Amino acid sequence: MTMLAAVRSGPLTGHVSVPGDKSISHRALMFGALAIDETRITGLLEAADVLATARIVEQLGAGVTFEDGVWTITGRGIGGLMKPDAPLDFGNSGTGARLMAGIVTGHPITAVFRGDESLCRRPMGRVLTPLKMMGLSVLEERQETLPLTLRGTADVIPIFYRLPVPSAQVKSAILLAGLGSAGETMIVEPEITRDHTEKMLAYLGARIDIVDGEEGRLITLKGQPMLKGRPIDVPGDPSSAAFLAAAALICPDSDLLIENVLINPTRIGFYDTIAEMGAELSFENPREQGGEPVCDIRVKHSALKAVRVPPERAPFMIDEYPVLAVLAAFAEGEMIMEGLAELRVKESDRLAATEKGLMACGVDAHSEEDTLIVRGWNSVPGGATIRTNMDHRIAMAFLTMGLGSAKPVAVDDSSMIETSFPTFRSLMESVGARFHIQRSGAR
Ligand code: S3P
Repeated sequence: MTMLAAVRSGPLTGHVSVPGDKSISHRALMFGALAIDETRITGLLEAADVLATARIVEQLGAGVTFEDGVWTITGRGIGGLMKPDAPLDFGNSGTGARLMAGIVTGHPITAVFRGDESLCRRPMGRVLTPLKMMGLSVLEERQETLPLTLRGTADVIPIFYRLPVPSAQVKSAILLAGLGSAGETMIVEPEITRDHTEKMLAYLGARIDIVDGEEGRLITLKGQPMLKGRPIDVPGDPSSAAFLAAAALICPDSDLLIENVLINPTRIGFYDTIAEMGAELSFENPREQGGEPVCDIRVKHSALKAVRVPPERAPFMIDEYPVLAVLAAFAEGEMIMEGLAELRVKESDRLAATEKGLMACGVDAHSEEDTLIVRGWNSVPGGATIRTNMDHRIAMAFLTMGLGSAKPVAVDDSSMIETSFPTFRSLMESVGARFHIQRSGAR
């Protein structure tokens, strides 16, 4: 087997733009399919997860064209999507499958949902429970993982639902189903999660009220709005930018400008945390793009110190914990990251994979229930091949580690990086990172 390895590198310098935000890209395609008229999307993330969503909205009857860097979605209006004549294949994408389950709930159609091995292990019950209350039928009655056959309805029941897990995917699925109902769908979020669905639905013409109270955030969506296609310019993904920022922090003499990064407050927990760790970091040229705040992030090589990361921060940097844990290995002291239960149900059990990977690289790490503790060294040995379990972020986090460790770090399978950041290697190399292909067994 050929594997990718990262080699001690540096300095990382210059400027670089990361690809479009994955969450916003999925939503732009899906919501465009529910709007009338055309939604023209620029900066879309052209990665496997999002391209699967593009194919699926086309299977459901929306028009999808791509020309001169612009994706144009011709929507069918809420309730107007059609029964697909083949199964919908979501590949590796939990966001795709869960949000689309909400959309199918509001259409009187039947669709088979399927995905790859990793997606077929991930919990769907968290969306099926509220969606069934709203009128969704699941043909495989007692099953809560893909493949599943879902049948929606023309008479969606609006619900009041308190989110039992902090998940933007669950919240979004309910809101998307609620678009089809005649009444008001209400959701209480005890812990605030990313709010791209609320923002984009409002931008396209839906009425959404948001009130922050003692119980958390109350979101109220008025059903059956008229969504109208509008241009969407997708900003750069802060979760992808995190790998570049981390690499710059650990490679000596680095000074990197990462341009055009989304800095929505529900997405910047990683940047808040590295700032607390002592990162030399600045948000430059703040501006607005497609209704979202963006800026250019400058990061320099920095001496890092360990901090305690509180559980409340978890929803704001959920996908960045593996690379944050890698940084903890290079930081002085004991880093404690709490409230990580959701990491166990991502593309793989990321808490276990991160702990094992760190230990394989000679780092003192252990997890206790939903807490990860990493004791940093002034130097990280590396010299291991990491099992990625079909998880793109585990692969990228440990390749980032290899850029700063004494010996190279390899990953057993780098192909899954395609799902979210196909240009990871070339962008990293363009600013000075070094990788090589390694035969299995070699060090
Ligand atoms: C996403 C929400 C998060 C995140 C995922 C994308 C989204 O999942 O991990 O990569 O686009 O809504 P959860 O909402 O399930 O935590």
